[in-house]
Amino acid sequence: MNYYIFTFGCQMNVSDSLWLDRSLQAMGLKPCNVEEEADIFLINTCSVREKPEHKIYSLLGRLQEYIREKPHVFAGVGGCVAQQVGMGFLERFSFVRLVFGTDGLVMVPECIRRLLEDRHLKISLLDFQDHYPERPECWPDSSPAQAFVNIMQGCDNFCAYCIVPYTRGSQKSRSSQNILNECFELVSRGCKEITLLGQNVNSYGQDKNGSEISFAELLKRVAGLPGLERLRFTTSHPKDIDREVIRAFGELPALCPHLHLPLQSGSDRILASMGRRYTSGDYTHIVDCLRTSCPDIALTTDLIVGFPGEKDADFQRTMDLVEKVGFDSSFSFKYSDRPGVPAEKMHPKIPDEIKADRLDRLQSLQGSLTRDRLAQRVGQEEMVLIESQSKKQGPPGTVSWTGRDPGGRLVHVHLPRDRDCTGEVLRVAIVRAHKHSLSGEVVTC
Ligand code: 5AD
Ligand code: SF4
Repeated sequence: MNYYIFTFGCQMNVSDSLWLDRSLQAMGLKPCNVEEEADIFLINTCSVREKPEHKIYSLLGRLQEYIREKPHVFAGVGGCVAQQVGMGFLERFSFVRLVFGTDGLVMVPECIRRLLEDRHLKISLLDFQDHYPERPECWPDSSPAQAFVNIMQGCDNFCAYCIVPYTRGSQKSRSSQNILNECFELVSRGCKEITLLGQNVNSYGQDKNGSEISFAELLKRVAGLPGLERLRFTTSHPKDIDREVIRAFGELPALCPHLHLPLQSGSDRILASMGRRYTSGDYTHIVDCLRTSCPDIALTTDLIVGFPGEKDADFQRTMDLVEKVGFDSSFSFKYSDRPGVPAEKMHPKIPDEIKADRLDRLQSLQGSLTRDRLAQRVGQEEMVLIESQSKKQGPPGTVSWTGRDPGGRLVHVHLPRDRDCTGEVLRVAIVRAHKHSLSGEVVTC
């Protein structure tokens, strides 16, 4: 039996899919890279914005056509859209025989075994748990150089535009001992870089499941694991980032100098109606503290344009703040209504052409900031963790590889053709800046 996993959305979904992949392989099922060879499709979905949600429906429509000829093939739909649409998928698409939310993921491998045994069965795993659902691991002999480790699930913030608290449930922190055990197992199998994941990692431990330690203490303990070269975390909420975490950027050598800190808007009026619970002044204060603690820190962010009621002057405040902070890069989105969230009922809605124009202006400002920030790296030496081969053409006899520097910037290097460098950390002299990346030459191999 072959399976094929589609993954949409955030790094938490990528991490969930990787766990599913390891678990299904341990059951004796085979992953495949070609859709035509699959007997089971698993689709891990995202509904944070309207666009990714539409993609799920067009994928299911395409699979329905294809599966018509192969009645034994079936699909499972998981993640945020599954949590939202639920049984609707089972009713609307006969080939969908499993729906699962994020808390139900842990039971998916066992359910697939049951679905293979009984061809008439359909299963729904949509209940929320009141604690972090711990996932059994089947450790392979070696680990990839980079790994994700979940530290929590869900979110209690209820930002006015966001569907996540409804699709991923309330915040549930994982026990620090289980987190540390997983990190230890990964590092002892060769993992060099760990990214701690959660919807709002800065409030780790502050839920009814509690935790005996704070997020800053967790960072210290993970960063202290012998052999771990790099530690990252995402995502942070500005209202919850505390002094200890900011200080950690200057104190923990393994903690990479990069923070993704979603700003969403530069207007205090819009931030208040988004329910973000910080002001533009609070945000710039955090940035100043971060740069005092770690002058070289790379800052990236998320921004929404066209939130209900956003006036030109509000948008201008976002532009001004983006320029003032000088983000290394940002993800920016046109606001879209999500079903059931408070902003759905907020007015006036902003016409799409105004949203598109604002997005355009914001992205071109970010483009020039990114170019400036990248140009500042030329002439420096960076340690680059190589991730994969790239499509870029190198000189004859060489292959182009892509990796990331500690700040998270993409770096391209050319290396002799016969060498697989995946997972190696190389010292690279940066020689050129491009629109979104850097190129360099390897100093030591
Ligand atoms: N519309 C547009 N963007 C959104 N995001 C979350 N919800 C919405 C929405 N309804 C963006 C935010 C968040 C990122 C993951 O997606 O910027 O940080
Ligand atoms: Fe959504 Fe806000 Fe929670 Fe982030 S902090 S997941 S934006 S509700």
